[in-house]
Amino acid sequence: MSSTASVAKNLISKVKLNDGVEMPLFGLGVYLIKDNCEHLIHAALDKGYRLLDTAELYHNEAGVGDGLKKSGLAREDVFIVSKWFPSNEGAEGAKKALSTCLKNLKSDYVDLYLLHAPQGGKCAEAYRALLDCKKNKQIRSLGVSNFGVHHLEAMEKLGLEAPSVNQIELHPWQQKTDIVDYCRKKGIAVMGYSPLAKGNKVKDETVRKIAQKLNKTPGQVLIRWSVQHGFITIPKTSNESRLEENADVFNWTIPDEDMNILVMNT
Ligand SMILES: NC(=O)c1ccc[n+]([C@@H]2O[C@H](COP(=O)([O-])OP(=O)(O)OC[C@H]3O[C@@H](n4cnc5c(N)ncnc54)[C@H](OP(=O)(O)O)[C@@H]3O)[C@@H](O)[C@H]2O)c1
Ligand SMILES: *[C@@H]1O[C@H](CO)[C@@H](O)[C@H](O)[C@H]1NC(C)=O
Ligand SMILES: *[C@@H]1O[C@H](CO)[C@@H](O)[C@H](O)[C@H]1NC(C)=O
Repeated sequence: MSSTASVAKNLISKVKLNDGVEMPLFGLGVYLIKDNCEHLIHAALDKGYRLLDTAELYHNEAGVGDGLKKSGLAREDVFIVSKWFPSNEGAEGAKKALSTCLKNLKSDYVDLYLLHAPQGGKCAEAYRALLDCKKNKQIRSLGVSNFGVHHLEAMEKLGLEAPSVNQIELHPWQQKTDIVDYCRKKGIAVMGYSPLAKGNKVKDETVRKIAQKLNKTPGQVLIRWSVQHGFITIPKTSNESRLEENADVFNWTIPDEDMNILVMNT
């Protein structure tokens, strides 16, 4: 099976994953969002965001759950992603982490659960245990993060069902065409993280010039780059006014000539 890139047209545009689940292509990353998490999630949902990306590591799964409750939206209207670093506890560790995640989210299920990275030594055991949790409907889709081609090939050799998503760092300084092409060939949806290069590149001269020409902000140009590549993308902001700025990336395009310039050396 192969999946072509889907370019989001608005905040509710979705992509159909290899297990049939439909996932929004655009959302909010919540890394480093702490004290104001509940409030910010509520604000993002009010502005039309429908995908939220958290993790055990971020210590804000509970804030995400609280923000969703506060918004008054139905659980099924919002797509929640969380992740967990495989540990040497293997299957037991995975089940324990998921159960804590669901308690924090105050939900019976998480929409997408990711192995946060190919580490811990017992990834395959953890993955198999989580496939069972998917059967139990505690997880709608199962995926991975920070997996390279050789990690996915190793999974395939073990006869493991392909993940639905691979979440990897993607922006003009991290193009990763080998793993992107591999995932697309295998029908694994590509989800990019750090679309703003963690905020480090909004002052970059090349990006700034393109932004000026298009009458957009540098942040919008970087986010649009991910949208236009057909990546599921999750720009993070803890600044309420940027929630709108970052989501205003659907009714304009970066011309090909500028996309070609935005292939940057690290
Ligand atoms: N799977 C993984 O291993 C992994 C790793 C890293 C990240 N992630 C996920 O991806 C999400 C996004 O990545 P990220 O948080 O690393 O970085 P990012 O989204 O690339 O950048 C966030 C930074 O950019 C700033 N920013 C946001 N919008 C801006 C704008 N319009 N103009 C200028 N600056 C702006 C933010 O500051 P303010 O908050 O002050 O606006 C923050 O400092 C994370 O939150 C997390 O959900 C996953
Ligand atoms: C929030 O974002 C706006 C731009 O939309 C910026 O002017 C302001 O300085 C930011 N606030 C903080 C606290 O970073
Ligand atoms: C594009 O969408 C934004 C809202 O996201 C809106 O403010 C703006 O007017 C739209 N521009 C055009 C040209 O339709």
